[in-house]
Amino acid sequence: MAELSGKTALVTGASRGIGAAIARRLGAAGAHVAVNYAGSKDAAETLVAEIIADGGQAFAIQADVGIMAGITSMLAACDMAFGGTPNLDILVNNAGVGGEGDTGSLRKCDEELFDRMIAVNQKAPHFITQLCLDRLRDGGRIVNIGSLGGRSALPPFAAYAATKRALQSLTMSTAVVVGPRGITCNLVAPGAVDTEFNKTLSEKPGWAEATSKLTPMKRLGVPEDIAGAVMMLCRDEAHWVTGQIVEASGGLFL
Ligand SMILES: NC(=O)c1ccc[n+]([C@@H]2O[C@H](COP(=O)([O-])OP(=O)(O)OC[C@H]3O[C@@H](n4cnc5c(N)ncnc54)[C@H](OP(=O)(O)O)[C@@H]3O)[C@@H](O)[C@H]2O)c1
Repeated sequence: MAELSGKTALVTGASRGIGAAIARRLGAAGAHVAVNYAGSKDAAETLVAEIIADGGQAFAIQADVGIMAGITSMLAACDMAFGGTPNLDILVNNAGVGGEGDTGSLRKCDEELFDRMIAVNQKAPHFITQLCLDRLRDGGRIVNIGSLGGRSALPPFAAYAATKRALQSLTMSTAVVVGPRGITCNLVAPGAVDTEFNKTLSEKPGWAEATSKLTPMKRLGVPEDIAGAVMMLCRDEAHWVTGQIVEASGGLFL
């Protein structure tokens, strides 16, 4: 029997990139996966079709998690699909936004981008977690997707990095709240991963090579590298690991 057989999972921002790899990995392990997306309907539906074609169970939910109405409608759709409460085993708060180029830097970030990053990267995980507390079954898992930027000085991405630092704090508070029920909450912090998130940077000549050189494992990350770290935390063996920041970075900035 697949190791997550009979379990349910919600992955936010799962239409593309890291979230899509996480949803695919959880689906392949037998979980029934809710694939949340904001705008990429075709990508989300293609992913759901792939998971089902591979023998898994999945469905797509359009919702902007940066607003409360989006969060509540997403969870209502999960309740419909998963059945009565509690109904959730794995929550992955993955959806995230950064700025194009250095638009999120200390010098340039404007109020609109700042508020958007706070809404999607910080407010959404807080309220999704809050509203999932009673939906999560005992022994469940919460995994927040942070960033190496949450621990290092990152002036060109100062506003983004601050939201990821905040997510580290939320992870620890959540771990304390859910611990008595055998639910763990951890944060996976990716380094540089080859996704559209880094489109502007990766178009800069030499950026990928220079970043690979700085990485002890000598390459950029791929979404599956991060999905593997999330899967590790979702396994039974990880039941005693909570409140931790797990860097999945190939050793970048050690
Ligand atoms: N790539 C990296 O190097 C890197 C490094 C460190 C941390 N991270 C973190 O890893 C996570 C995933 O990043 P990625 O590289 O996979 O990014 P990506 O390729 O840009 O994908 C972002 C995903 O988030 C979704 N999303 C964005 N805003 C949303 C919203 N308001 N509501 C619902 N979904 C929303 C997008 O959905 P639509 O396409 O439907 O809009 C998409 O599925 C983020 O939290 C990011 O901060 C990434």
